[in-house]
Amino acid sequence: MKASPELGLAVLRAFLRERSPLGPLQVMAEQVGRFFQIPLPGFRPYVVFGPEAARQVLVTERNKLLWRNHDPVTDLLRHGVLVTDGEEHDHYRRLMEPPLHPAALSGYTQMILTTTDRVSAEWKDGATLDMLVEARKIALLIILEALFSVDAWDDLPRLWTPILKAIEYISPGAWILWRRIPRPGYKKHLKVVDDYLYGIIAERRKRKAGRPDLLQHLIDAGLSDEVIRDQMLTMMIAGHDTSTALLAWVFAMLGRHPAIHARLVDEVDSLEKSPLLDQVIKETLRLYPPIHIGNRVVAEEMNFDGNPIPAGERMFYSIYLTQRDPAVWEHADEFRPERFAHGRKTPPMSYIPFGGGPRACIGAAFGQAEARLVLTRLLRDFRFEPLNADRIHAYMGATLEPRPGVWMRVVRRDVAARSSEANAAATSSLNS
Ligand code: HEM
Repeated sequence: MKASPELGLAVLRAFLRERSPLGPLQVMAEQVGRFFQIPLPGFRPYVVFGPEAARQVLVTERNKLLWRNHDPVTDLLRHGVLVTDGEEHDHYRRLMEPPLHPAALSGYTQMILTTTDRVSAEWKDGATLDMLVEARKIALLIILEALFSVDAWDDLPRLWTPILKAIEYISPGAWILWRRIPRPGYKKHLKVVDDYLYGIIAERRKRKAGRPDLLQHLIDAGLSDEVIRDQMLTMMIAGHDTSTALLAWVFAMLGRHPAIHARLVDEVDSLEKSPLLDQVIKETLRLYPPIHIGNRVVAEEMNFDGNPIPAGERMFYSIYLTQRDPAVWEHADEFRPERFAHGRKTPPMSYIPFGGGPRACIGAAFGQAEARLVLTRLLRDFRFEPLNADRIHAYMGATLEPRPGVWMRVVRRDVAARSSEANAAATSSLNS
């Protein structure tokens, strides 16, 4: 279907209904297909999705694409691993892989649990909290400790706004249509973040040696302070904003699905490792992938099922649409964690919340282990009562965020009641 007044109206209606560009993307996908161009003045990127396109973009034809772009993400991250290509990228990536290797993850378990407890210890019994905010505190403290051995507890209040501003700076906005639009109000906040990171680097250089964390790997490789800052900022943002969104979306989903929520609490109480928790995390990542789109520049002409994209064009591969493709997923828009209960039933490259190929997410194993630990701990210690579950919508920021937040009443669970509930659950599972 070519762009028509009907399609224009359908796109507009979807925008008003969903209050985000996700609705229009879904309408374009339904009415045009797995290849289309966003029809905005001055911004006409191509969008592709589905397992075949994902394989081309992530694996077989990835060398025809560049990650480095001319946008605020590149302005901010400069030479960060996320926005470089070729040998430069591979060099940084190799340096940063060891501390994030699955074999290294058990070393973070205790810290992740302690950090979760430290944040939740501040919650007043019965308080109303936004789990998007609480998740961000937990995820930020965890990433700074894991990668740079920094306890940022006392720094969080003054870093909070600057970090949110840095995230806002790289989120979609009017700059998409007008690249050089003046953007006042960011400079001083971005400087606070930079000064903080440069301070951590200087401190470590003074100490000569440190724990073999990610920062130490970068220093030992002889990189300049500027390039180390670029990697640190990249990892800090990519490594916490995503986990924040994932945790918050899990709470949003549990709020919307009370029966699954209740089963999950029982299972977390009675089993050491909850299969349902894994399924809930996977299904949340399918419906609300924190990184919902991969952003590329076409360096050499590509062809998607007969549709060419010339060199020099912008291209997005949509993780969101791939993971909701009705040709691949049954009841694609419904939250059904059990679809992950018996292994994969969909084709390879149809489930790509961490991307794929050689540039798949460097923190995929870390992010999943972190989510499991944080959620297990919080569900064990608190009862979460949803307050706005039906009014949450997906907002396209730097990640896909639940807005206007995930509001919940948080009640500390009574230890005695918890263990008797757990015993009852264990007995019933033995009897069944
Ligand atoms: C739930 C958590 C996370 C999700 C859903 C996620 C998702 C993704 C996705 C989809 C990509 C590929 C994007 C593309 O193809 O354009 C990616 C890349 C990346 N992620 Fe994650 N991520 C998560 C956690 C993390 C963590 C914890 C870290 C760091 C500790 C991290 C650091 C990175 C980096 C540096 C890249 C770029 C890798 C490269 O280009 O070589 N992410 N992530």
